[in-house]
Amino acid sequence: MNHPNKKNPILVALDVPSEEQAWKLVDSLSGHVGGFKIGLELFTTAGPALVQAIRERNAFVFLDLKFHDIPNTVSKAVRAATRLNVQMITVHTCGGSQMLRAAEEAAQAQAKEDGIEPPLILGVTVLTSMDGAALQEVGVETAIGGQVQRLALLAAESGIRGLVCSPLEITLLRQILPETVQLITPGIRPAQAQPIAGDDQKRALTPKEAIEAGADWLVIGRPIYAAEDPVQAASDILESLS
Ligand code: C5P
Repeated sequence: MNHPNKKNPILVALDVPSEEQAWKLVDSLSGHVGGFKIGLELFTTAGPALVQAIRERNAFVFLDLKFHDIPNTVSKAVRAATRLNVQMITVHTCGGSQMLRAAEEAAQAQAKEDGIEPPLILGVTVLTSMDGAALQEVGVETAIGGQVQRLALLAAESGIRGLVCSPLEITLLRQILPETVQLITPGIRPAQAQPIAGDDQKRALTPKEAIEAGADWLVIGRPIYAAEDPVQAASDILESLS
C-alpha cells in the first residue's frame, strides 16, 4: 500500500479553470474522496502555490503534468514536484528507459533529502485520444495494444511503480506486469450517474468493474465535479464499491 488513503480509491480530477472553483471542490470533497488530481490547466493557472495550499490541508495530491523531456530536465522537474510533497506525478513512458529511471531516482533521492515518502511516479503509455492512424502519423507502426504493452513493460523494467491506463487495458496489464505495479484508471462512469452531454469517454467502465478488473485507483472528473451534489456523487461511488 502506497498511502493510507488507499482505502478510498477515488481521485477527483480538478479540471476547473479557476482557483476559486478548485477550492470549492477541495473544501467540500475532502474526507469523501481519496485525493485530488491537478492537471495542466489548473497548474498553469494557479501554480505550485495552490498545490502547496492543498497539501497543507493534508489532502493527497496527484500532480498530472505528464513530464516528457531529456532525462536531466525530467529529473529536475520531478525533484521540484517532490519538494511540493505530492503523492503522484505522471511522466510519458515514450521518453524512454533513461528518462524513466531518472524520474524514479529523482523522486527517491529528493524524498530522502526531505524526509518524506517518495511520490509514486506514474507512467502514461499511449494517450487514449490516439488511434492507430495517429500513432502511424508519428512513426509508430505497432497496433495500439502492442504499443501499450511495450511501453508498460519498459516502464516496469525501468523501475516505475505505477501506470495510468484506460479501463480496457487493466486486465491485460495485470497479466503482464508485476502485481506491485499500481494501476490508475480514468474513463470511469458510474452506472447510476446522469449521462454527460458530449461525453468524450467512449470506452468507460463503472467504478466497481474497474476495481474488479484490477485498478488500484480511479480518476473521476465530471461524474463528481459536474454533479448537482458532488459529495453525494462521491459517496454513491464509494458505496457502489463495497
Ligand atoms: O471528466 P472525466 O471523468 O472524463 O475526467 C477524466 C480525467 O482523467 C481527466 O482529467 C482526463 O484528462 C484524465 N485522463 C483521461 N484519459 C487518459 C488520461 C487522463 O481521461 N488516458
